[in-house]
Amino acid sequence: MNKAELRDWVCRMPKAELHMHIDGSLEASRMLSLAKKHGVDLPYTSEAEVQNAYDFHDLQSFLDLYYLGASVLRDEEDFYFLMMDYLERCRADNIVHCEIMVEPQTYFPNGVDFDTFMKGFERAIAEANATWGQSVVLILSLLRHTPEDECLAVLEQARPWRHAFTAIGLASSERGHPPEKFERLYAAAKSEGYALTIHAGEEGPAEYIWTSLKSLGVARIDHGVRCTEDDALMDFLAEEKIPLTVCPLSNTRLKVYQTMHEHPVLTLLARGLCVTINSDDPAYFGGYLNANYLALLDTFEPSPQVFVELARNSFQAAFLEDTQRDAFLQTLAKWESAA
Ligand code: HPA
Ligand code: ZN
Repeated sequence: MNKAELRDWVCRMPKAELHMHIDGSLEASRMLSLAKKHGVDLPYTSEAEVQNAYDFHDLQSFLDLYYLGASVLRDEEDFYFLMMDYLERCRADNIVHCEIMVEPQTYFPNGVDFDTFMKGFERAIAEANATWGQSVVLILSLLRHTPEDECLAVLEQARPWRHAFTAIGLASSERGHPPEKFERLYAAAKSEGYALTIHAGEEGPAEYIWTSLKSLGVARIDHGVRCTEDDALMDFLAEEKIPLTVCPLSNTRLKVYQTMHEHPVLTLLARGLCVTINSDDPAYFGGYLNANYLALLDTFEPSPQVFVELARNSFQAAFLEDTQRDAFLQTLAKWESAA
């Protein structure tokens, strides 16, 4: 395969995306039109101005804009189109299964309640599932800059929508908000049968990954790239097959790494860790899932087999029943042998 053929091959490969914040898929054009619709005052008047503001130097500088952007989402139709746009993108990128983070605490300050966003999201998901068989899991993502009691209250408010969420997660500012602050939250979610994931080791130290595993009992780590600072941790993650949902374009845009050449994801893969590739906040970081795969292709020029391994990991790490997982793995194997 020449380079152009390999790019096309990677884009067509069936894959799963496990780390994507739905508000992170809000494109500038829709942000502006919704601001107009709802009379929300944003400090931008054009798409170019919005794009110019996406000049981040760390996680917090991004989060400030991200929460501001999401403040334009107000009614059920807004949430329907936000979800539908992303699911259409899944179809285009051959993301046959996706796991999407929903963050109620972002919407509540604007008077938006659970029913409003969940009805919009569920309508889009049902349509995508009926039309092209899109597989979707939702993750109830709490915000770690808020008090644990507030997160526990959201878990309680989610009760009427319990059927819609497979897992809980924890996102937002990592530094100064260690995992042990949320021990009661994770214990409560576990007792209610949620699967558990958490952002750890993006800007926070490797220690936060250890605590997430030992004190919270999570099954998966979002980001986790700073495990490279701790050999024993990398060995543990490999031995225990704890997946990392890694987001290459996010990490370079938020300056976790200055260039893609410094990114350790393929080194971690070679060391035996179950790493997966994800887009995090695609509208803000310069690309959806295939753009992340292609950034690795352009930077490291790995063999086609590496991409198949990454896609296989994405299904292995998914919060799926084993029969569904096996079906996706078979689809990938068939695709590979036909390719
Ligand atoms: N890290 C933490 N919180 C987030 C992120 C992230 O990369 N994206 C959206 N919320
Ligand atoms: Zn994230």
